[in-house]
Amino acid sequence: MIDDILDEMTLEEQVSLLSGADFWTTVPVERLGVPKVKVTDGPNGARGGGSLVGGVKSACFPVAIALGSTWNPDLIERVGAALGEQAKSKGASVLLAPTVNIHRSGLNGRNFECYSEDPTLTAALAVAYINGVQGQGVAATIKHFVANESEIERQTMSSDVDERTLREIYLPPFEDAVKKAGVQAVMSSYNRLNGTYTSEHPWLLTKVLREEWGFDGIVMSDWFGSHSTVETINAGLDLEMPGPWRDRGEKLVAAVREGKVKAETVRASARRILQLLERVGAFEKAPDLSEHALDLPQDRALIRQLGAEGAVLLKNDGILPLAKSSVDQIAVIGPNAASARVMGGGSARISAHYTVSPLEGIRAALSNANSIRHAVGSANNRLVDLFSGEMTVEYFKGRGCQGQPVHVEAGDTGEFFWFDLPAEGLDIADFSARMTGTFVPEEGGEHVFGMTNAGLARLFVDGELIVDGYDGWTKGENFFGTANDEQRRSKRLEAGRRYRVVVEYEAPKASLDGINVCALRFGVERPLGDAGIAEAVETARKSDTVLLLVGRDGEWDTEGLDLPDMRLPGRQEELIGRVAEANANVIVVLQTGGPVEMPWLDKVRAVLQIWYPGQELGNSLADVLFGDVEPSGRLPQTFPKVLADNSAITGDATIYPGQDGHVRYAEGIFVGYRHHDTREIEPLFPFGFGLGYTRFAWAAPQLSQTEMGPDGLTVSVGVTNIGDRAGSDVVQLYVRSIEPRVERPFKELRAFAKLKLEPGATGVAELKIGPRDLAYFDVESGRFRADAGEYELIVAASAADIRASVTIRLPADHVMEP
Ligand code: BGC
Repeated sequence: MIDDILDEMTLEEQVSLLSGADFWTTVPVERLGVPKVKVTDGPNGARGGGSLVGGVKSACFPVAIALGSTWNPDLIERVGAALGEQAKSKGASVLLAPTVNIHRSGLNGRNFECYSEDPTLTAALAVAYINGVQGQGVAATIKHFVANESEIERQTMSSDVDERTLREIYLPPFEDAVKKAGVQAVMSSYNRLNGTYTSEHPWLLTKVLREEWGFDGIVMSDWFGSHSTVETINAGLDLEMPGPWRDRGEKLVAAVREGKVKAETVRASARRILQLLERVGAFEKAPDLSEHALDLPQDRALIRQLGAEGAVLLKNDGILPLAKSSVDQIAVIGPNAASARVMGGGSARISAHYTVSPLEGIRAALSNANSIRHAVGSANNRLVDLFSGEMTVEYFKGRGCQGQPVHVEAGDTGEFFWFDLPAEGLDIADFSARMTGTFVPEEGGEHVFGMTNAGLARLFVDGELIVDGYDGWTKGENFFGTANDEQRRSKRLEAGRRYRVVVEYEAPKASLDGINVCALRFGVERPLGDAGIAEAVETARKSDTVLLLVGRDGEWDTEGLDLPDMRLPGRQEELIGRVAEANANVIVVLQTGGPVEMPWLDKVRAVLQIWYPGQELGNSLADVLFGDVEPSGRLPQTFPKVLADNSAITGDATIYPGQDGHVRYAEGIFVGYRHHDTREIEPLFPFGFGLGYTRFAWAAPQLSQTEMGPDGLTVSVGVTNIGDRAGSDVVQLYVRSIEPRVERPFKELRAFAKLKLEPGATGVAELKIGPRDLAYFDVESGRFRADAGEYELIVAASAADIRASVTIRLPADHVMEP
């Protein structure tokens, strides 16, 4: 059928399929019954079409690093299935997920959006996720292909990575997604790879992906990440996103006529697009693109369960779990206590059905406590608190807010990301808007106004220009690197007085890097200062136990920028120290999208890392704190003692953050624990680490055979729960080559199994590995190669907690095609 359609199509029609129609849909060819399909972000929910801000509500799942911490592919497959349903509720046939870039520096703004520093763990979870999504008839899009481990100069940076490192660390999740899950779409990354944009990289998109791995789905560009006509299509990039076309359309038709692109190449790409439509059932029934909120009880329950499965208990001297009956005076302190920080920022942001803050979750769980006190203590926001409150928004044709508005509507927050304007006749390239709201300070004193804008804007308070985002505007990092850095100015305000806040905004005059983004965010806050910390100390002093909720928010952990360091932002370290001086029973609950240094670790009794766990945040946290459920997460990323212990942080800017448009992955395969192990650098918390509330005994590992044959072998480990509570343990199998012929990491994770056991129960972890698990990539022959000899199979509870090891033999060299 597809070939019949292609035969009927003109060249122009075939070409039209190779760019989006708009931001989120493909081009239909009505004459031939080819419908349009919608794509949606991804990965922790399905946002639907329209702007990146707001939109129809959706189930908000944990971010990927929290899923990575579950080490539970079965559960992640259920997440995928639920997200497939969510995508359908947004009229989408393609989900732009999962993200499987590797945790390299620990500072990547999108660290939260990726599963792990380890390719085996990442690949296993990605395969499960994709199976879940695609089982619902929705195509998954694995991204970003490849070597997109930082947000710095992300549209142009070249990641310079040697082939062995690519094959062993960065490519395997994509490879398994193709070979084991039959992923239907791949998104190329923004960056260049060894000097060439990945969206026009023939080796990557054709030789490796299609010829070696046998991929038969579509490759789409990241949004505005495709920069050429001839090079992209000839390299194997099928779909330029978003639409309407920039480098295709007439330009591609002309390139075919001039003989620069073969008609067969266009036909092959068009064929793959049609095949995708067929795979998602769009020919059987043209998709209904309308959107609705689908808030299912089973999703709520799954998200709540995931929160505990991904929570990593890093330290516990026995204070946890807290017995509900004995909790009397409890303080819930910190910037993340009353605000529900459920997800990261950037394109992964969705509009959650609802959120439960830690404070709400704890209040609901502790209905009998005598007293639950709360104090913020100190702030950790990167941008000034968002303005919220009633507002009038007037839209004008042209810049300068001149004449009569053509449209007036009500607003309620100071954040705007315009995709479609609300009235006919308004042109996104030439409009302006005026927001008028009122701010009534609760307390008098110094307040800070802040604004960041893509386009130009000025913020006035009672007619006085306070923040100038107009004159001298220069590009910074916000809004994906299209807005200026936040401009701030403070002003003394009186308590209770009504201040008129007016922002005048106009669209940017020229597009930046081909992207015309119209966005604005403004806010106001009263700095907490010393009084905030003093209040927290006082609150802690009056209480028996302190839950201290610190970390970051989705303005830090976000696409568009990397983190400046690995410390808790603002005065939070001081807050922890001061609170711990006032109260001996401090439990720190951390919310970050990656590792943080913990110079305060010795001062507190417990540390629980919960990442950004989705809409059920407060409930799943309460489940864990009060022992209704065990925290069973294990770190998917090493927490170094200090940032400089990370292998990419050497002081050499060419290795990180990059210099002159290149970032050299000079540490090669020594990423994460491969670096810490091999170089003997003790981490703060090792990869794979996490405590629980019960205890387990592991039996000696049993081997199915002592020689590795072509069909692989199995290591079995009996695990018994010897405590008095139900709990889970994760058995990890690492491989070490005893006499390597090339430099290799000390050991590498190759299999794992999570077992959930009732008290007294025994289960068996079955860890299967094959010849490829013994191999390294031999660049000379272009093949994976396992050298004959002895290998140690290390059974461990974390990269630093080796429980047993057994030796196997590979009788003869084993060489494998990639
Ligand atoms: C991100 C992608 C995302 C796309 C569409 C890009 O900025 O890198 O991950 O899918 O936008 O929102």
